Amino acid sequence: KHIALFASGSGSNAEKIADYFADSTDVKVSLILSNNPKAGVIDRARRLHIPVLLFDRTTFYSTNQITELLLNQGIDLIVLAGFMWLMPADLVRAFPNKIVNIHPALLPKFGGKGMYGHFVHEAVAAAGETESGITIHYVNEHYDEGQIIFQASCPVTQSDTPDDIARHVQALEHIHYPRVVAEVLATLTTQES
Ligand code: GRF
Repeated sequence: KHIALFASGSGSNAEKIADYFADSTDVKVSLILSNNPKAGVIDRARRLHIPVLLFDRTTFYSTNQITELLLNQGIDLIVLAGFMWLMPADLVRAFPNKIVNIHPALLPKFGGKGMYGHFVHEAVAAAGETESGITIHYVNEHYDEGQIIFQASCPVTQSDTPDDIARHVQALEHIHYPRVVAEVLATLTTQES
């Protein structure tokens, strides 16, 4: 099974996923794609010896080059790991229930366009929430609205700053995302056999 990872930022989730499958004989992270030439994920990919493909808005939204490339590479699952753009409709259609994303909050709360990265944790702290967490979900054409696959929560106390929340949430991401990706891949295998 071949995975393509999309990331726009540091790529810590991408690295955890690549590490998880490093010794696997039947799952391979074939490609890391990014829309940000300065993304930290590029350096991580180099160290992990995973090919990187950079693209801009025009390529991503006005051509179907990325969709064609992923189909030609025989990608079985697309994993968004801190990818900040909406997936184009043609790409979502080409990979039905084969694109997953992780959101650093307990959807449906604190989701949707603009609710990403550190801003989510600021909003959770400001709202006085007593818990936050992660949501792993299938991707469709709307931000953060695909079917939920997995959620895990962590407590939020009055004294927690957004940075504290970010740290606790990111720990959950690193613990759960690789395993959930493996579980999704296993369902793909059974569906096809
Ligand atoms: C994570 O908080 C993830 O939930 C969100 O973007 C961040 C990516 O972090 N989608 P990293 O680039 O994987 O370190």
